[in-house]
Amino acid sequence: MTGEPGVGKTRLMAEFREWVDDQPELVFWRQGRSLSYGEGITYWALGEMVKAQAGVLESDTPEEVIAKLGVAVQEAAEDPSERDWLNASLAPLVGASVAVAGEREESFTAWRRFVEGIASQRPLILVFEDLHWADDALVAFVEHLVEWSSGVPLLVLCSARPELYERHPGWGGGKRNSNTISLSPLGADDTARLLAALLQKAVLPADTQRTLLERAGGNPLYAEEFVRMLSDRGVLTEQGELSDDDIPVPDSVQALIAARLDTLPADRKALLHDGAVVGKVFWAGAVASMGDRDEGFVRAGMHELARKELVRSARTSSVSDQAEYSFWHLLVRDVAYSQIPRAERARKHVAAAEWLERMAGERVTDHAELLAYHYEQALGLARAAAGDASETSRLEALAFRFLGLAGDRAKTLDLQKAKAYFCRALDLAPDDLERARTLLTIAEVADVGDLQRMRDARQEAYELFLRHGDELGAGEALVGMSWDAWMSGAGSEAAGMLDEATELLERHPPGARAFARLQAARRKGHDPRSRRGSVDLVAAVPRPRRGAGPPRALHVCLAVPRSCSVRPRRR
Ligand SMILES: Nc1ncnc2c1ncn2[C@@H]1O[C@H](COP(=O)(O)OP(=O)(O)OP(=O)(O)O)[C@@H](O)[C@H]1O
Ligand SMILES: [Mg+2]
Repeated sequence: MTGEPGVGKTRLMAEFREWVDDQPELVFWRQGRSLSYGEGITYWALGEMVKAQAGVLESDTPEEVIAKLGVAVQEAAEDPSERDWLNASLAPLVGASVAVAGEREESFTAWRRFVEGIASQRPLILVFEDLHWADDALVAFVEHLVEWSSGVPLLVLCSARPELYERHPGWGGGKRNSNTISLSPLGADDTARLLAALLQKAVLPADTQRTLLERAGGNPLYAEEFVRMLSDRGVLTEQGELSDDDIPVPDSVQALIAARLDTLPADRKALLHDGAVVGKVFWAGAVASMGDRDEGFVRAGMHELARKELVRSARTSSVSDQAEYSFWHLLVRDVAYSQIPRAERARKHVAAAEWLERMAGERVTDHAELLAYHYEQALGLARAAAGDASETSRLEALAFRFLGLAGDRAKTLDLQKAKAYFCRALDLAPDDLERARTLLTIAEVADVGDLQRMRDARQEAYELFLRHGDELGAGEALVGMSWDAWMSGAGSEAAGMLDEATELLERHPPGARAFARLQAARRKGHDPRSRRGSVDLVAAVPRPRRGAGPPRALHVCLAVPRSCSVRPRRR
């Protein structure tokens, strides 16, 4: 479903949900929204759905998350032999895994199987809200799901502003089993009716009404906000009559909302500003800690703002023991955010991040993308203001740390995205050694096809490690370099590198990560003197899943020139 902001997409879905709830048949309704942060947090909306299905809270410990996911998988997977696979594939979505992602197709297949498993218990409706903010990988998953799911009662509903088509011009078009509903603005008569219903008894002066219909452009949000503005100003009496004829008619719905926010007392407005920094959804504790306020004061303020229909409080919170709120409409958040003086934004982003970090506790990696967003935002603002240099470098260090963790989270889900995070981290590396380590990570997530990039990254890392006398680091870089050389068929060069790595590493006590790499290199047989290893690699290929593409290990074997002899696995 597509349409301009405020035209009624969310409302239509809510009406549909009510209709569904009234049906005698029980239906699973799972909803996830994409956030307006940067290019979107990897698979966030899907993660929300899986968390809701499993009953996972943001504040749960990793053990609780794994246990809850296990139960959900058990209920959804008919075939017990699939459970481990599903658990492993779903874990990164709910922030319970740090393993490196497999092929995207394989994850998609697993997630689809899970969705189908839920839908086979009872009809399932999946709602992806605000898909225009989704990361590309999520959009690809939605397409996969709609294309491949069959045999179960499943409805996938997406809402998006038209800008979705800028990034995905072919979205929905020509797909089997899919329809696009494009919501157009209300006509003048309908807008007038809506307005009349909202105003109850009051009748606007004819001039005002005419200007208003023109400026509203059939946008129901405009009509609603206009009437709320009248109540805010006390122009609309309790009896639903107008006490004043002098009514401003702002140009756009944003201007209208801004005008409403300007009538709030300063302390209430500050609450909204702080909430807006956290996002569409925020928590009393966050706002309290951002402004050094008492939580009771925040809750009382929010109660008042909810009465004015600027925010609403959530029935259930995704953070235990925390009152949760969301902006009545996203545009209210956007306008509130835009009102914060730039100088204050940086400080607020940092305060929001600090609260989120405390809340996330051990599961900080699951929230790392959000934290990285806040710190990058703060850093950008601090740099633009060219203020305190020590604060800027503190922010650089924080952004570096969380970009690295964000890369780790994305690595479990989408390697492209992970690479983007690590590359951004690289620019912020505080010293040569951190830079070298980040380079190694980038090489690790680079595409098999991007051999040159891997080589350059490892070469630079190797030189940096050597320059600073870090032999373990240099050894680890060499192991990787030998793999790159071997992949491109340079066998003797690879052998030389592995020997040099061995020499460097053997000067140190065993147990370091680099040793594990070296041993794995020998075991997997990219020791060029042995061909046995490539066969081992094939033997390690897991049994293919139904509908999945060839397993990753097989891709690797097939990508290796010359040195690989592929033999079917014996059972
Ligand atoms: N047909 C309608 N009749 C009455 N009110 C409506 C209608 N459509 C929308 N509204 C009201 O207008 C407001 C804005 O609608 P909604 O939030 O659904 O917009 P949206 O299209 O989802 O916008 P966004 O792209 O910003 O998410 C809501 O408060 C909604 O209740
Ligand atoms: Mg909406």
